[in-house]
Amino acid sequence: MRTWSFSSAGALFFGRGAVRVHLRDACERLGAKRAFIVTDSILVKAGLLAQTTEPLTALNVQFAHFDRVTPEPGVELVRECVAAARDFNPDVIIGLGGGSNMDTAKLVSMILAHGGDPLDYTGDCRVPGPVKPLICIPTTAGTGSEVSAAAVFTDTANHIKVSCLSPFLRPAFAIVDPLFTVSCPPKVTADSGIDALTHAIEACCAVNNDDFPLPSGEKSVYQGKNPMADVMAKQAIILVGQFLRRAVKDGSDLEARDGMALAATLGGLAFSNAGVALAHAMEYPVGGAVHVSHGAGNGLLLPYVMRFNDAVRASEHSYIGCLLSQTGGRGDGIAEVEQLRKDIGIPLRLRDIGVKEEMLPAFAAKAFAIKRLMRVNPRMPQSEGEILDIYKAAF
Ligand SMILES: NC(=O)c1ccc[n+]([C@@H]2O[C@H](COP(=O)([O-])OP(=O)(O)OC[C@H]3O[C@@H](n4cnc5c(N)ncnc54)[C@H](O)[C@@H]3O)[C@@H](O)[C@H]2O)c1
Ligand SMILES: [Fe+2]
Repeated sequence: MRTWSFSSAGALFFGRGAVRVHLRDACERLGAKRAFIVTDSILVKAGLLAQTTEPLTALNVQFAHFDRVTPEPGVELVRECVAAARDFNPDVIIGLGGGSNMDTAKLVSMILAHGGDPLDYTGDCRVPGPVKPLICIPTTAGTGSEVSAAAVFTDTANHIKVSCLSPFLRPAFAIVDPLFTVSCPPKVTADSGIDALTHAIEACCAVNNDDFPLPSGEKSVYQGKNPMADVMAKQAIILVGQFLRRAVKDGSDLEARDGMALAATLGGLAFSNAGVALAHAMEYPVGGAVHVSHGAGNGLLLPYVMRFNDAVRASEHSYIGCLLSQTGGRGDGIAEVEQLRKDIGIPLRLRDIGVKEEMLPAFAAKAFAIKRLMRVNPRMPQSEGEILDIYKAAF
């Protein structure tokens, strides 16, 4: 049997009011004097920046902020944010926002520590050492970036989402305050929530840790399905089944916000150790080519990918059906995901989000080339053609 490991953020604070109570602890433990906050203007208007700077002021930490991150940021914007941070010369970086802001903060921490350009570090385990101390505060319940080892951005010239994966990109502190997600509009709640589900399903259906086909000499933060990631993925799936519809329907349902915040963090813990796979690989070219959020793209593709994987993961899919529907006996995970997708308004076909049929072969070639995700899939696609068939089914 192969060995496996489990990693997280350095410390995790969770619960309503966690930022007010614990941001101070985190800054003290890091000896912070100058904090640079990476965020966006919507969150400033929602009052979340003010709630974040309050404890900093109380602690006499100097701060500056960059509030121009846009969803699924392009590399140019990341470079701008790096330049602004460099001018301020911080000793701590705070990522406040959804995955887009937290990932930009991670990239800033990386570049301030090691120089160069974000594109120099894309791929698996290419960050050479520790990054500037990083605190992540999620405002969506979705990506799990607050605990994960990934930072995703868009390589605009090549029209594809790319990712830096490294153990050094796990934040020193994750502060998850469900109250920070209450202002999320229904679409952001739905898209980010189904991303969390995709993380959990891809993690618990990943290739077995024993069979993970990692070529010798190569390193990966992903390890395949393992017992600890499984526990977290399964709990995340249960919570999504219980709370995602409620959170989309009524954003002020605090019990649902608590449940989804926990689901997202658990999903992040699961996937950042086991891995994400074919759904994510197939979403990257789609997200780089048309305007669709990462979550909506994943949610759209997920049932088609599950159908492809069903030959080797039928019992997991049946179990996922039971977890999502909270019923015993035999479940149908694919049908449950399809119903959930419909109920929360995720687009159902690629043609509905501006994809043209002639784009599909290039998407298949790009997805097939993302070997670090292909090898996590329980049924490894053998050709671009197999992936093209999945895209065609989803078209
Ligand atoms: N690093 C990782 O581990 C990881 C994992 C999955 C996805 N991602 C990446 O994360 C990005 C998506 O992140 P996301 O789904 O969290 O969305 P996002 O960060 O792109 O945010 C989407 C929109 O929601 C708004 N928003 C966020 N929180 C809000 C709040 N509380 N109130 C009102 N508006 C709010 C933002 O301002 C933005 O306009 C993608 O680039 C994706 O590829 C990263
Ligand atoms: Fe994701």
